[in-house]
Amino acid sequence: MTAVAPARSGATERPAPPPRDAVLRCRGLVKRYGSTTVVDDLSLAIAPGEAYGLLGPNGAGKTTSISMLVGLLAPDAGEVEVGGHRLADAPAAFKGAVGYVPQDLALYGDLTARENLNFFGRLYGLSGRALARRVLDVLDQVRLADRADDRTETFSGGMKRRVNIAAALLHEPDLLVLDEPTVGVDPQSRTAILDGIAELNAGGMAVLYTSHYMEEVERLCDRIGILDRGRMIAEGSRRELVERLDQADRIVLDVDGDAEALARACAEAPGVRHVAHAHRQVTLMVGAGRSALPQVLVRAAEVGVAVTGAHVIEPDLEAVFLHLTGKALRDGA
Ligand SMILES: Nc1ncnc2c1ncn2[C@@H]1O[C@H](COP(=O)(O)OP(=O)(O)OP(=O)(O)O)[C@@H](O)[C@H]1O
Ligand SMILES: [Mg+2]
Repeated sequence: MTAVAPARSGATERPAPPPRDAVLRCRGLVKRYGSTTVVDDLSLAIAPGEAYGLLGPNGAGKTTSISMLVGLLAPDAGEVEVGGHRLADAPAAFKGAVGYVPQDLALYGDLTARENLNFFGRLYGLSGRALARRVLDVLDQVRLADRADDRTETFSGGMKRRVNIAAALLHEPDLLVLDEPTVGVDPQSRTAILDGIAELNAGGMAVLYTSHYMEEVERLCDRIGILDRGRMIAEGSRRELVERLDQADRIVLDVDGDAEALARACAEAPGVRHVAHAHRQVTLMVGAGRSALPQVLVRAAEVGVAVTGAHVIEPDLEAVFLHLTGKALRDGA
């Protein structure tokens, strides 16, 4: 085993600088309830077209934070700008730029999906043909056009959630803010929701997504903020966050031949911290698995061992969270 500092392997990832022309920006947001500070000095910025994930366990302050960001809850300190406008100075521009999907469902069960959306559309000042067209468009976007005229009380939880998302899209916002939209929904709706959000984002809409499901945030988001007890404890792309850990990647090789010989040959390769072998399998702990793999394959060829399978397993955001807070992301979930 050798103790070698890992090479960095993030060169192919999109870098994550703080955006300059932000669609949303907040500075120093604070919210207190009694003597408890539930959001503590939160600052973040989201660029046009960016997908930003706010990740944190139950009670971390995600809902409180985004309630302040979308203008539903007054902060005790700090300020929020949407498209350069503050809510107090330009309420119409501020609200027009943001679509908000709350954590709790807000639908009239005895109305159809279309009727619900007509209602919400009128709240946004839409009417007539323009409203009818937007309702059709958004039902299409959430893949519910075929259920437009069914009462929403007959919908599954996931379908209701999709109507809620449709409502937030009616006024064509620049930024879509979603508070844990896949909690408690069936797998089919979950996929539809995640695919739909990815599609909207690919079409240029900025997204602020909160979740305690790290795999959703990893899949959807360019940049991730980790929130714990009201504080932003880390921010960056998935790769940047994982690299902070300085944790090893794992390379698992399926081999046909002398596994022990290959293990010996790899033990001194650059970046390799630990090697283990079993019958037909060699496992290496390395600083940067993807960049170490070619070198490992060369050594396998040198010792005459055929590699029939190779997997690089990288530490995930769960590991990052555990490292930063000492607790699992899913605590209490
Ligand atoms: N109106 C309120 N009065 C008092 N405390 C509140 C209020 N709203 C939220 N809190 C507290 O603030 C903290 C953060 O709550 P918040 O709902 O923002 O967390 P969250 O990250 O959204 O959690 P979850 O994943 O469960 O939705 C919690 O401890 C909560 O009990
Ligand atoms: Mg919440």
